[in-house]
Amino acid sequence: MALPLVLISASICLLLLHKLYQRLRFKLPPGPRPLPVVGNIYDVKPVRFRCYADWAKVYGPIFSVYFGSQLNVVVCNSELAKEVLKDKDQHLADRQRDRMQSQFSRNGQDLIWADYGPHYVKVRKVCNLELFSAKRLESLRPIREDEVTALVESIFKDSINSENSGEALLLREHLGSVSLNNITRLTFGKRFINSKGELDEQGQEFKGIVSNGGRLSAKITAAEHVPWLRWMFFGHNKAFSQHTARRDRLTRVIMQEHTLRRTATGGSKQHFVDALFSLKEQYDLSEDTIIGLLWDMITAGMDTTTISVEWAMAELVKNPRVQKKAQEELDQVVGSDRVMSESDISKLTYLQSVAKEALRLHPPTPLMLPHKANANVKIGVYDIPKGTVVNVNVWAIGRDPAIWKDPLEFRPERFLEEDVDMKGHDFRLLPFGAGRRVCPGAQLAINMVTSMLGHLLHHFSWSPPQGVKPQDIDLSENSGRVTYMLVPLKAVATPRLPTHMYKRVPVDM
Ligand code: HEM
Repeated sequence: MALPLVLISASICLLLLHKLYQRLRFKLPPGPRPLPVVGNIYDVKPVRFRCYADWAKVYGPIFSVYFGSQLNVVVCNSELAKEVLKDKDQHLADRQRDRMQSQFSRNGQDLIWADYGPHYVKVRKVCNLELFSAKRLESLRPIREDEVTALVESIFKDSINSENSGEALLLREHLGSVSLNNITRLTFGKRFINSKGELDEQGQEFKGIVSNGGRLSAKITAAEHVPWLRWMFFGHNKAFSQHTARRDRLTRVIMQEHTLRRTATGGSKQHFVDALFSLKEQYDLSEDTIIGLLWDMITAGMDTTTISVEWAMAELVKNPRVQKKAQEELDQVVGSDRVMSESDISKLTYLQSVAKEALRLHPPTPLMLPHKANANVKIGVYDIPKGTVVNVNVWAIGRDPAIWKDPLEFRPERFLEEDVDMKGHDFRLLPFGAGRRVCPGAQLAINMVTSMLGHLLHHFSWSPPQGVKPQDIDLSENSGRVTYMLVPLKAVATPRLPTHMYKRVPVDM
């Protein structure tokens, strides 16, 4: 009994001494007073980016917050975001991994959770030059166009079904399916749907793995931030490794199927799994890295697109003026005797602005992903010691009244008046981050989100459920790293094109 007590007291003393040393040596950003051991864990509200935006009003645009003894620094304005993501980017491009992320990425053998270093530079090159090259994205376009017509068909069936006719539908369910199919076809070359239109066995396993991953990450408790309390949750480690093994098993089976097909046909397809196999030697990629990259795309690409479209549609139901204007543009550019295609997007400037405005107000990853300092640096007038986790509150920056006129108003016209880049070149609008770690899937995501919105608006008029006024649609956010609407959007979809335009156009690739 005495030994653990001595060890705990010694750890607390060491932590306090370390904190004192940091305070004396460094000029740290101000922030709420941390408690010993737990830091500010109990001060932070569940919807973190809102809490941080409130704290910025008290402590200023850069402040400190402790999770256990881990110092986090949050920046909430565009000048400081530029310092983090451009000027000091090189020293702030490591990642903070929790236990699950460490296990799942095999200590950063993938891309998302890799620290900045030779491995990162190599896999990032694979992504930029190979996986997300304009040529590959274009060659995979038929998959996206197939899936978006499947989305339209499923909503049409739902909306004309005699039981549902005139009733509101839950848009997220439909969007979730299209995102899942898009991402599994892109990465694994598989739709996971059998001839009866149901998820096949592999699809069930895939979905099981994804939802188990979500369940496990929700289990990461406050104790995660207090390393010497982790022993109380030792069961988690076993669950994490079982989860990783399950994921690896399914991925290896799929990789094996691709290898057999390549051997049989002598040809390789465009999907990421085939691409990574053919690049294995050239880039010296281990199997762990290939599996890690494939799952990075799934985790980073699936929820984010669903979330973006759901938020945009909520704003469009809330703002019938904007919805009508986007539909008029679609009618003019696409007409009513063909469906929209991605090649129309360049002519649909208002639709592009709608997508941008939705990402300004509702970035799916409001605090981006955590960056970590690999050296002592300065941000503004403050010291950021090596090992500090740095978060950029892109949600707060997108609503900053100092840079946006009427920031809370959903007004896509603002981007027709001034063209603002959203892929990391303008630090006022950062839904995809910026700098070395900017989202490599940004262009793909923009294509998918704009195309889904275009189809949804071209094919249907959207209104609130009976008895609900547009202004009553609830725009609260869920807690969590990615931000879904707290109350999923329900809306009535009324077809607005001839009936023969609602059929899926399947593509086999
Ligand atoms: C609207 C949809 C999306 C949004 C808003 C989004 C946003 C982001 C953000 C904010 C980051 C972190 C940047 C940073 O840490 O500085 C990120 C990273 C990443 N995203 Fe996306 N993303 C989206 C869709 C996608 C898609 C479709 C894919 C791939 C299929 C993807 C793949 C990745 C990867 C691999 C990373 C890690 C990059 C790194 O650590 O170097 N994302 N994304």
